[in-house]
Amino acid sequence: MGQIAFLLNGDPVTIADVAPTTTLLDWLRETRGLTGTKEGCNEGDCGACTVMVTDASGARAVNACILFLPQLDGKAVRTVEGIAGPDGTLHPVQQAMIDHHGSQCGFCTPGFVVSMACAHLNGRRDFDDQLAGNLCRCTGYAPIVRAAEAAAERPVPDWMREDLGLIGGAMGEPAPGARTHPSYGQPKSADELAAWYAAHPDAVLVGGATDVGLWVTKALRELPEVGFLGGVDDLKYLHVDSEEVRIGAVTSLTEVWEAMRDLHPSFAEMLRRYGAVQVRNAATIGGNIANGSPIGDSPPALIALGATLHLRKGDAQRALPLEDFFLDYGKQDRAPGEFVEAVSFPRQPDSLRCYKLSKRFDQDISAVCGCFNITVEEGRVAAARIAFGGMAGIPKRAAAVEAALLGQPWTEETVAATADAWAKDFQPLSDMRASAGYRLDAARNMLIRYFHERAGTPVSVLEVQP
Ligand SMILES: Cc1cc2nc3c(=O)[nH]c(=O)nc-3n(C[C@H](O)[C@H](O)[C@H](O)COP(=O)(O)OP(=O)(O)OC[C@H]3O[C@@H](n4cnc5c(N)ncnc54)[C@H](O)[C@@H]3O)c2cc1C
Ligand code: FES
Ligand code: FES
Repeated sequence: MGQIAFLLNGDPVTIADVAPTTTLLDWLRETRGLTGTKEGCNEGDCGACTVMVTDASGARAVNACILFLPQLDGKAVRTVEGIAGPDGTLHPVQQAMIDHHGSQCGFCTPGFVVSMACAHLNGRRDFDDQLAGNLCRCTGYAPIVRAAEAAAERPVPDWMREDLGLIGGAMGEPAPGARTHPSYGQPKSADELAAWYAAHPDAVLVGGATDVGLWVTKALRELPEVGFLGGVDDLKYLHVDSEEVRIGAVTSLTEVWEAMRDLHPSFAEMLRRYGAVQVRNAATIGGNIANGSPIGDSPPALIALGATLHLRKGDAQRALPLEDFFLDYGKQDRAPGEFVEAVSFPRQPDSLRCYKLSKRFDQDISAVCGCFNITVEEGRVAAARIAFGGMAGIPKRAAAVEAALLGQPWTEETVAATADAWAKDFQPLSDMRASAGYRLDAARNMLIRYFHERAGTPVSVLEVQP
């Protein structure tokens, strides 16, 4: 078996005999007796298993239930057992949870404490967002948020900053040959990944494991060979210049969210509702595209922005419009051994609006996700890119609606005149999230909303207007 080295609550750990799809949660509880990290849903939804993972880019909260051990190689993990100081001094968030009565049955509390400690360390005060991935069934959120607010007034304890200084050195070098076990690869660059994947074209690539993790924990799938992308540092980037925005495939959704706040705020606002902090910290943009999900949230936004997908197999690279990558339900234009290297889109004035419709605001999959990017020149529609998730078996452009808009005056009448085009573009399914009729009506209404939003009319149901 391969060998993995990381820090656990400040102490170096080297594991030699571990299957690549062993989850951190199982290993902590069953092998180390660290049972503070709880198993609630085992699918990334409840946050009971939240741990802090630190690498060169900083500390972040992630869900241990869908994190495979090899993803930790070279990093530091802090569980709830490592949040108090070495002499037992409580962390400010622990003390505040006591002071503000933030715990009743206590099952969710370790997860909350770790999420709060990560927010505290990173100076985050947007507590509703920071804690949206943690469910509590009995205390209620107000006392917990009050505890987070109180703790934010107190300094970060020294021991919470130690992991960043220790990673790399304290773990030592893995034993020679330790990474050669055939069941998994841990390439360290795009070139290494290209060579490894070309030689193992049937392997499953793992970016953040926020999909693949569930194949293991819920579908109980055995994965024959696995290639971990977490060490491919040269595919973790977000370059912005005057011509284009280019995002490496292994960039996390948290990093994409941060960059989009300036470039395309509506995209960022949609990503704020993508899973929750723990999911966005782990999930990669490459995984969100490559999985081909018809309800993935970033593809419609990227298609509306005119994105190009960059693929690589061995030394051969190719690029295609992102919408052409999605061929049919579960079928993408990707050959065995070929992987997503990056996605790019042109710099442009911001006309993008993204509307994610789901039953809950946070941590919910879209029933419909509509993204609109319409250019108006001298009162007429000069360009229109409209793309949807949840309306077909793939993320799909609304070609007939776009055609009905092009060249027309940008008026409410023109928008109304697209009414029949929607059914040409989409024949959505009815499922547990929404009926076909609801989806079509919602899509039509989103264009009306876009029109009014562009005209400056307040449209957000979440904002109280004076
Ligand atoms: C609780 C929860 C909430 C979620 N909420 C949302 C949501 O709101 N919106 C949403 O869109 N998704 C959501 N998801 C789904 C998931 O987070 C995304 O699809 C995510 O982007 C997958 O990225 P990943 O890096 O974790 O992919 P992984 O699970 O690592 O991989 C997914 C697939 O992509 C392949 N792959 C990964 N990287 C590459 C690459 N570079 N080249 C080729 N193939 C690759 C893998 O082999 C696999 O087939 C949620 C998931 C969970 C668990
Ligand atoms: S156990 Fe629910 S998110 Fe991990
Ligand atoms: S205190 Fe019981 S679930 Fe939160």
